Amino acid sequence: MKAKLGILISGRGSNMASLIAASRADDCPYEVVLVASNVEDAAGLATAEAESIPTFAHPHRGLKRADFDALIDAELRAADVEYVALAGYMRILSPEFIQGWEGRIVNIHPSLLPLYKGLDTHQRAIEAGDAEAGCSVHIVTPELDDGPVIGQARVPILPGDTPDALAARVLIEEHRLYPAALAAYIREHG
Ligand code: GRF
Repeated sequence: MKAKLGILISGRGSNMASLIAASRADDCPYEVVLVASNVEDAAGLATAEAESIPTFAHPHRGLKRADFDALIDAELRAADVEYVALAGYMRILSPEFIQGWEGRIVNIHPSLLPLYKGLDTHQRAIEAGDAEAGCSVHIVTPELDDGPVIGQARVPILPGDTPDALAARVLIEEHRLYPAALAAYIREHG
């Protein structure tokens, strides 16, 4: 039986789409049972619906962080989710939520962690004069972008690179790395 995966998104959901595409393979250890969002018109929701995956969307505005997270938590539990993948989920999760899923939430971050936690990672890598950039898949802990790294991919930073050009190069690697790193982690942890 495949492990049940829930994905949280806030935007276009291209990493979500790569996780869903990979899940269709017979030997993939997870299946996507729910896509949830804090943004009601997130483009990724339509992509998930087109793939016949149940979706849940609720705006976070007006709700305390812990109360909103409890709402998401209840949806994930109702769908019997076992692992949660953050895929462009632009909201910091409450410690209560993270503790309830200890070792079972993963995130993809567009930098070579521990470098450049937080936002504007590509711009910061270019400004620092780095030769390489990349992306990291890590286990989510209460500290932002800080948990154990379970996979990384690297790309060169080219002369004249803009943050957008670099982001596009890194994104190609994100789409390869995320399903592979998540599948390896689930195979190891059951
Ligand atoms: C990706 O670059 C991801 O690493 C970051 O936010 C972006 C989300 O893109 N956390 P998408 O919604 O998966 O297309």
